[in-house]
Amino acid sequence: MTNQELERMVDTSDAWIRARTGIGERRIAAPDEATSDLALAAAENALQAAGLSPDAVDLIIVATATPDMPFPPTACLVQHRIGASAAVAFDLSAVCSGFLYGFSTAVGLILSGIYRTALVIGAEVFSRIVDWEDRSTCVLFGDGAGAVVLQATDRKRVFASYLGSDGAWSELLMVPAGGSRMPASKRTVDERLHYLKMGNGKEVFRRAVHLMTKAGLEVLSQANLKLEDIDFLIPHQANIRIIHSLAQKLSLSKDKVVANVHKYGNTSGASIPIALDEAVRSGKITRDDIILMAAFGSGLTWGAVLLRW
Ligand code: ACO
Repeated sequence: MTNQELERMVDTSDAWIRARTGIGERRIAAPDEATSDLALAAAENALQAAGLSPDAVDLIIVATATPDMPFPPTACLVQHRIGASAAVAFDLSAVCSGFLYGFSTAVGLILSGIYRTALVIGAEVFSRIVDWEDRSTCVLFGDGAGAVVLQATDRKRVFASYLGSDGAWSELLMVPAGGSRMPASKRTVDERLHYLKMGNGKEVFRRAVHLMTKAGLEVLSQANLKLEDIDFLIPHQANIRIIHSLAQKLSLSKDKVVANVHKYGNTSGASIPIALDEAVRSGKITRDDIILMAAFGSGLTWGAVLLRW
């Protein structure tokens, strides 16, 4: 969906969207596609890239805020469809930080020796929870999925992980209805309460830059590495201005920043693995590069992971 198509739906303009967000277009799932369909494609591509068969996978985590349904877990649907019958599968909810929360959870479980091979998937169909009559939010989001395979090795390649949460700001980004607090009713539907609400875009912007910077510096310090050691920054793709501000705070030049928000918009928990996948497949990221991933989202939640590819 291009900005021009949005111009015909709400009072907005291509110029406004590009100037404020850097977004030019976003992908929208087909009416018969749900999150597990996108997650399945990403999982199959990741397994193929890793040269592994589904039997090798013993852990599947799907990070999503838009599961196919409240339960069963979307991860179980993916597990069945890829045929990873030996794997334990569950969903994890940390919205736009979900992929890094899932990644860090998988790393912890692998380091503890409980599991050996994990599939971590970020998958979202935000187009189903976006209010297409609200111009302040509908221009920002898109649908997508990305996945990584993590496996135990002798040499440590994930140097550090740092996650943060602050529920005091839970009202900044939320979907008010559809849960146990406000179950679906005619009123909640009439009042459009099943759609994403963003309280204060500027506050979200400020906190995103501040908290991702803090998380990035924290993992560097944990790993005893310096900003100059980073080959690539893969930030959550919410807004190109947030990405550039973060890069500036971390003194990273633009050629070290992976950004594709212009093509996909904000795909929430899917944005980092999609960007990582594109950077690897295009040859930009090569073996042994040091990568900093940083995320921020509703909750509030945020975090960073530092690794050697
Ligand atoms: N088209 C045209 N005008 C618009 C649109 C639109 N789509 N949306 C808002 N406007 C108007 C506003 O009504 C306002 O008009 P007014 O001055 O007459 O009141 C004007 O544009 C300026 O609005 P601001 O909110 O001041 O614009 P700002 O520069 O802050 O940009 C934006 C808004 C893009 C939302 C920015 O604040 C932002 O990116 N914030 C972060 C949002 C985000 O990334 N959320 C998700 C991250 S967390 C996660 O991924 C879950």
